[in-house]
Amino acid sequence: MKILITGGAGFIGTNFILYHHQHFPQDQIINFDKLTYAGDKSNLKELEKTSRYHFVLGDIADRKMVDRVMRGVDLVVNFAAESHVDRSIANPRAFLETNVLGTYCLLEAALENKVSRFHHISTDEVFGALSLASKNKFSEQTKYDPSSPYSASKAASDHLVLSYYHTFGLPVTITNCSNNYGPYQYPEKFIPRMITNLLLGQKIPIYGDGKHVRDWLYVEDHVRAVEAVLAHGKPGETYCVGGLKKDVNNLTLAKAILKIMKKDPDKWLEFVSDRAGHDRRYAVSWQKINQDLGWEPKYSLEEGLRATVSWYQNNQTWWQNKKKEAESFYQELAKK
Ligand code: NAD
Ligand code: DAU
Repeated sequence: MKILITGGAGFIGTNFILYHHQHFPQDQIINFDKLTYAGDKSNLKELEKTSRYHFVLGDIADRKMVDRVMRGVDLVVNFAAESHVDRSIANPRAFLETNVLGTYCLLEAALENKVSRFHHISTDEVFGALSLASKNKFSEQTKYDPSSPYSASKAASDHLVLSYYHTFGLPVTITNCSNNYGPYQYPEKFIPRMITNLLLGQKIPIYGDGKHVRDWLYVEDHVRAVEAVLAHGKPGETYCVGGLKKDVNNLTLAKAILKIMKKDPDKWLEFVSDRAGHDRRYAVSWQKINQDLGWEPKYSLEEGLRATVSWYQNNQTWWQNKKKEAESFYQELAKK
């Protein structure tokens, strides 16, 4: 089987490729990535030694290039995206170009090359926000109501993907996943930002009142969910993927990290200005993927956080320069 992975030099794509190569070593993997600030080709340098893995530099919004790389491919998994909400507030254009136009180019090429499956990686953010008071969770039936330029661009891409199923019969599947964390996550995102700040002797910045809720999932569990959908998911279907049974707000999460890193919560938290349009609460029901495909998360939050803290402690050279870039982005954002 020949698989095209887009955005494989990013956080989740890297974890997917490592997992897939380990479990299906006979498959041929093409990693097609533009290497934006978020991509790091060296994550997969070990695989470059095998003939089963090839890296191709390119943009998913470049139709000619996408056509070339899609030839002979059986399966496409589209991870490539601009993924950070704060950057979408600062510069929405790149989000439309990659997330919408890029997905369109991939769909056209997939149709022309008659791929047997096009799997699109999406997010629970397309559903908007739940209130803190409600016990509701997002599910496959929830109406789309995105609130940031990032989530609006992902929502548009999901609609396009499904339209290629309904209109042209392209065999597509979609997963709408909650917040991931784990190894290789760019330190602009909350969990690696907290860990790397603490390792550098800096405080954790908490947006607003810190009562915002996210549904945290260890990245390997997301990867396993995608594998389950590739193996047994039904074309035309979407699957919601989430990690937690009970709500955990940002303050509670920060305190859990402080506990693991043996730091006093009274000294290491700092409340900062809130994100514009900050969604209050995300919570995902993963009943469908559990019942239909037998998937469930393996890692508890405590286990996942411990593994993540230890990865960032042991891989400082991986994140040092990325950290500088991420923090200079935040400094510029604060000036606006
Ligand atoms: P990331 O930002 O870490 O990585 C994105 C990758 O895509 C990078 O390697 C980047 O170089 C590449 N890329 C960006 N623009 C490209 C383009 N035009 N052409 C080719 N490659 C391009 O993102 P991530 O956190 O790994 O997210 C991967 C996917 O999962 C995204 O679609 C995102 O929306 C979705 N998602 C992420 C989360 C999360 O918590 N991180 C949760 C749910 C869904
Ligand atoms: O829900 C899935 C989404 O999760 C993915 O689609 C996105 O690609 C991914 O970036 C993530 O989006 P969030 O905006 O939820 O993640 P982020 O890590 O940026 O923020 C998580 C929460 O922490 C959010 O409530 C904002 C807050 N936060 C974030 C940062 C960076 C802080 O309080 N302080 C911070 O410094």
